[in-house]
Amino acid sequence: MEKISLVLVALLLCTAVPRPSLAKGVSFASLRRTLIVSASPKQGQVLRAGEDTITVTWALNQSLPAGTDAAYKKIKVRLCYAPASQKDRGWRKTKDDLSKDKTCSFAITAQPYAGGDRSNFTYLVSKELPSGTFFVRAYAVDAADAELAFGQTTNAGKTENLFNIEGISGHHASLDVAAACFSAFSILALVAFYVQEKRGAKKK
Ligand SMILES: *[C@@H]1O[C@H](CO)[C@@H](O)[C@H](O)[C@H]1NC(C)=O
Ligand SMILES: *[C@@H]1O[C@H](CO)[C@@H](O)[C@H](O)[C@H]1NC(C)=O
Repeated sequence: MEKISLVLVALLLCTAVPRPSLAKGVSFASLRRTLIVSASPKQGQVLRAGEDTITVTWALNQSLPAGTDAAYKKIKVRLCYAPASQKDRGWRKTKDDLSKDKTCSFAITAQPYAGGDRSNFTYLVSKELPSGTFFVRAYAVDAADAELAFGQTTNAGKTENLFNIEGISGHHASLDVAAACFSAFSILALVAFYVQEKRGAKKK
């Protein structure tokens, strides 16, 4: 009995703590730009969340020496905030340590590395996304999920080739938050009920 409640509590904790999606301690500045990445939106285009799609294409830069990609295992494609959408928002800040970086907060896809071939993926712009200005970045990761290299649709200064996403209005977002809180509450209630039940059983 005791064990089951411990498991329940552990489960609760695990689901509540967001796991970092990128490797710890890898410095962005240490990564080489070896991938050539392009995305379908045109500079300044406005995409509607939940309706429009983005097709991302990536490949290794063929003018690099053979073996450059020897350790690449996966390509992680992410949607990233352009500087205009980070301004005055500390929680979206760019940090050199990739485990702390909030620039590329949204996963588009992760795919096995396809050697030198061009790969692509079409992504339906998620309804969860906030309105803002974005670009796309791809990371090449090794077998231990640590980033080795990257490529992105914009220049190093993140001024070119940016596109916009028009999110679903705040009304829907607050409904989602309410739903999330409600489900967290119901799990807590379940645990409380269980504990009480157990106490009752002990008294008897
Ligand atoms: C590909 O790599 C070469 C050699 O490092 C570099 O000069 C060139 O700019 C790269 N091309 C792209 C599109 O990144
Ligand atoms: C995406 O990849 C598929 C399969 O390799 C290919 O047939 C298709 O032409 C590609 N599309 C783009 C837009 O590159």
